[in-house]
Amino acid sequence: MNIENQKQFIEKVKNINAGKNLKYTIFTMGCQLNENDSEKLCGMLEEMNYTKTDDISESDFIIFNTCCVRENAEDKLFGKLGEVKKIKEQKGTIIAICGCMMQEKHIVEKIKKSYPFVDILFGTHTMHKLPEDLYTVICNKNKIQDILDIDGEIIEGIPIKRNDNIKASVTIMNGCNNFCSYCIVPYVRGRERSRKAEDIIAEVKCLAKEGYKEITLLGQNVNSYMRVEREQNLATGEIDFFAKLLREVNKIDGIERIRFISPHPKDFTDDVIEAIRDCEKVCKIIHLPLQSGSTEILKRMNRKYTKEQYLALVEKMKARIPGIVLSTDIIVGFPGETEKNFEDTLDVVSKVHFEQVYMFIYSRRVGTPADKMENQVPDEVKHERFDRLKKLAESQIAGNNQKYVNTIQKVLVEGKSKTNENMLTGRTETNKVVNFEGTDDMIGKIVNLKIVSEHMWYLKGEVLNG
Ligand code: SAH
Ligand code: SF4
Ligand code: F3S
Repeated sequence: MNIENQKQFIEKVKNINAGKNLKYTIFTMGCQLNENDSEKLCGMLEEMNYTKTDDISESDFIIFNTCCVRENAEDKLFGKLGEVKKIKEQKGTIIAICGCMMQEKHIVEKIKKSYPFVDILFGTHTMHKLPEDLYTVICNKNKIQDILDIDGEIIEGIPIKRNDNIKASVTIMNGCNNFCSYCIVPYVRGRERSRKAEDIIAEVKCLAKEGYKEITLLGQNVNSYMRVEREQNLATGEIDFFAKLLREVNKIDGIERIRFISPHPKDFTDDVIEAIRDCEKVCKIIHLPLQSGSTEILKRMNRKYTKEQYLALVEKMKARIPGIVLSTDIIVGFPGETEKNFEDTLDVVSKVHFEQVYMFIYSRRVGTPADKMENQVPDEVKHERFDRLKKLAESQIAGNNQKYVNTIQKVLVEGKSKTNENMLTGRTETNKVVNFEGTDDMIGKIVNLKIVSEHMWYLKGEVLNG
């Protein structure tokens, strides 16, 4: 399906807005997929004659692209809504909320009851209909709720305004079929559906032409790309479709780095391992969410692998892909997690030596099986475990950082450092931030730097002479 139908509404709103110098603010509250959706929302808004501002007090349109993966996301939204109410009263600003939270009935009810001034509510399957919804609100001055429970189709051709001109995200599949017992994502994003390889390749080629150097392929379960289509005999082929896609993207001239998130350990095939090894542009850092190191907890999380299988996969990757390093996601305090279960998590962390560990305190999500489990872990135990895990992870990250000192690293230069005008900043292939003194012509290029010192969250580098 494409965007043709919406194009007429883009045209109509554009004409209504012409010459009015209207502004919009967008709040993006979720993951990289959510950010990529926001880039599309911005693309549509800019075509409708709105320009972006970070100052909500001068906004004519304010949109919240929400997340509901953990509880704090909700608190953030409700806090901000109080603030925009005053602006709406003064200025008549149109307020919209979209994204994952809008697929949760109890949240939509709460917003309608407690924040009735919100004009547009739309969900993850109706994102492309923003022009139509906005047009209706402008013309009829009524409130709109445009939320679908059924899975939306993949929509190609939505205008996009990207946040960056060096690195770009490309969503390759939507939804998730895994139903990990703690996770809300499958309920709010629907079932897995993949974009056609030809559409993805065309988008990446276009990005390469525009000068982008780094591509991140996105999906909730990125390495099950095309798996459902294969099961339904809609796609056939010898090798893993994700491996094939990596090899295709690797051939595109101009692109220098390829990343992908998030793969699921249970779907990590040998084909993909070989593709990572063979494709020189695929960064040799793999994000491999662990969630828990305890086989017992993993079973109750419905992750479909054991501690031993995870460790064996890591060993296989390390043996077959020279120089590979890993990062991970871990949840502490899943219902019923005992001290012994938690020690298994610490054990995996100490064995794997992750480059980066994203740690989360388990958060109860309405409608998920884990929310109904007995033995919810008390908050103080969760926090105590979180702190212990953090200490171990940080000591390992510090140890890993040491290994960079006195090495030469290829760094993709992203721009000026935010904290120091005289410094440039970039990232190694393994995603470490490197700050260094350089010249503006280096921005957007990969330069060789000697790492001279390490600090917890960044490295310091020097340009090599000659
Ligand atoms: N599809 C990806 C990421 C999903 S959300 C994956 O499977 O890895 C990103 C991370 O949020 C997850 O990896 C998990 O660590 C965390 N997360 C998801 N649900 C959570 C919950 N209810 N409480 C705490 N953390 C959660
Ligand atoms: Fe959530 Fe699991 Fe799907 Fe990731 S794989 S989005 S954690 S259900
Ligand atoms: Fe959040 Fe939705 Fe992403 S719930 S993590 S924004 S898919």
